[in-house]
Amino acid sequence: MLPFSQFDPAGQLRHLITLDGLTSDQIRGLIERAQHFLRAPGVEPARSHELAGITVANLFNEPSTRTRSSFELAARRLGADVLNIEIQLSSRVKGETVLDTIYTLQSMAVDVFVIRDAEPGVGQFVAEHVQDHVSVLSAGEAHLSHPTQGLLDALTILQYKGGFRDLVIAVIGDVRHSRVARSAYQVFSALEVGELRIVAPDALMPEPSEMPGAVRFNSLEAGIAHADVVMTLRVQKERMAEAAIPDPHDYHAAWGLTRARLKLARPEAIVMHPGPVNRDIEIASDVADGPHSVIRQQVTNGVAVRMAVLETVIANRRQRQGLR
Ligand code: NCD
Repeated sequence: MLPFSQFDPAGQLRHLITLDGLTSDQIRGLIERAQHFLRAPGVEPARSHELAGITVANLFNEPSTRTRSSFELAARRLGADVLNIEIQLSSRVKGETVLDTIYTLQSMAVDVFVIRDAEPGVGQFVAEHVQDHVSVLSAGEAHLSHPTQGLLDALTILQYKGGFRDLVIAVIGDVRHSRVARSAYQVFSALEVGELRIVAPDALMPEPSEMPGAVRFNSLEAGIAHADVVMTLRVQKERMAEAAIPDPHDYHAAWGLTRARLKLARPEAIVMHPGPVNRDIEIASDVADGPHSVIRQQVTNGVAVRMAVLETVIANRRQRQGLR
């Protein structure tokens, strides 16, 4: 068997499991396409019939609000049929294997599987087994990867900062357990950001071999100094042993992004967070809601990015099938 590739024989994106291996041009192409789907607040959202006749199934085996709703809205706004499978309520709990679930849905003409799973490797495993015309998109894989989040974060930075090369970006908090941070690292490396900092207590730092090129800080004050972009992360309690979970008050005291700490960043710095926000733990409520926060814009951008990814994999499929 050939090694797994997200790309089809023509080198076009078929699956999106990771941002690793995407070129800067491919990333910029997706972000640019996403911008076409953005509308001013109060204006009706962008719609098209690009995905008419296509069926998208959301298979989420971990909680999700933003990612799942935005994949669903993205697919619907492009005219697709959408199925939401609650894994907890599906036959998986009766012992059906992942692949049997996939084959069952494939028999109902599902074209795109959107998969979130706490276990590493599920997305790729499914992608290796589906029919040639079917695509698999990751909506979050364990602590490893969250590619559409990486793209929406890059789009958000582009909107507010106009580029990447001159920026200092500080990713703060539980980097060790964060798929958001890993996809951010991949996207920011491909886009050649000026300086990428990972800022975390020692216990929440990734392994030394991970994220080469990023500058590590184990003090929030030092790591945030003169940053243009401050990205905060939720403490991933679900990926930690009970004993390792930090006390929320202690964590906020040492690692919470407060107004006073934000003053150390550049005056026009933006504050990002993938959500869900744990108010007054990793970020003070008044910072999350404050003038530097672009958290709600990240959510808006999530729909646009997922529309761009869905449209791209289906356009590539039609090209493979000679339909375009
Ligand atoms: C994140 C996730 O689930 O990876 N949320 C998201 O998708 N926007 C981050 C988190 O859960 O902390």
